[in-house]
This record gives sequence, C-alpha cells and structure tokens, in this order.
Amino acid sequence: MSVVNEQGLTAPPSTAYKIVDVPELYKDVINRHGFRGSFVGGSEAESPWVPFGEGAAIRHLAFDTRHNFFSNILWIKANGVVGTHKHRGTVVMVCLEGSARYLEYEWVAGPGSFIFEPPGVAHTLVTDHPEGVKLFGWMQGPIEFYDDQGGFVESLDVWWYINHYETYCREHGLAVNPELYL
Ligand SMILES: [Fe+2]
Repeated sequence: MSVVNEQGLTAPPSTAYKIVDVPELYKDVINRHGFRGSFVGGSEAESPWVPFGEGAAIRHLAFDTRHNFFSNILWIKANGVVGTHKHRGTVVMVCLEGSARYLEYEWVAGPGSFIFEPPGVAHTLVTDHPEGVKLFGWMQGPIEFYDDQGGFVESLDVWWYINHYETYCREHGLAVNPELYL
C-alpha cells in the first residue's frame, strides 16, 4: 500500500526494524559543530526528586544555559497551590498524573492535557486532586515569583534550577548527572 498520496505522506515510509543510513551532505559539519542529545532515565539515581517547599518536588531533566531553557517534572504531592508567578518566556507543559488548573482559567488539565503559556502571563497553579499532580514542563526563563500581596520576591531561571539541583546533590552525596546539561 502506498504511503504517499495526493495529501502527501500518510504513514511512515519505512517500518524496517533496522537503522537505515540516510544521506547527510553536512555530516562532517554537524559532527564538528552539532550538539549531542541527552537521555535521563526514569530512576531517581539519574535525577532525584528535589523538594520545592513542603508539599512539592522538582525532578530536573534538562538545563540549557545558551537559551535559558529548563525542563523538569513538577510534582505537587496533594491538593495545593504554587502561588502566582509571571513567566517572561514560554511554557510548554503536559500533565502526566493527577490534575491541575490555573485560577485564572476555566479548564482543568488531566493526564495527557497540553498547556502552552506565552511570555508575559501571570498565573496561579492549583491542584484540587487528592493525589496532586505531576506536570512535565519545558520552559524558557525567567519566572517571577510574587508573595500574596503581589510583592516581587525572586526570578527563577536556568541558573536557579541548576543551583536547586546541584545543591541537593551536594547535600546528599549524589553525583551530578552530566546528561542534564544540554
Ligand atoms: Fe507557571
């Protein structure tokens, strides 16, 4: 059966269970100047849950200091709140477990839900789920945190996230995992 019709590609053109050597004109340039990929497995040995206050933890997955990107899983362990904060960059999130919402919006994110927030928005993250929420996030910093009177407290960016991870590793005798650094 053809995988290309008048709509274009409709299915993967190869399902061969093998590595196919594909042409690349600039292989040498890519080898000299490209970046390697990274892999962080699911175990805490590869990246531990680092406490973020009493009822939450962050499992760091990636730090990109060139672009101020950072990726992690935010775990709010029971129904609770991550207070109002403002993003100066983009936020991409997928809900993995539980549920969460922003007080500012109507929707509720459950497992599989996708969230995109543009730069400049401020929002207040809550989970009403008894088991809280796990959110995978790919974010571009900084994130400005405010107290409950609207007073600015601190900007969190890739440097804060790296420090959060490395401080925990140091205090618990864990090796820093180089795979997290893009
Ligand atoms: Fe946010």
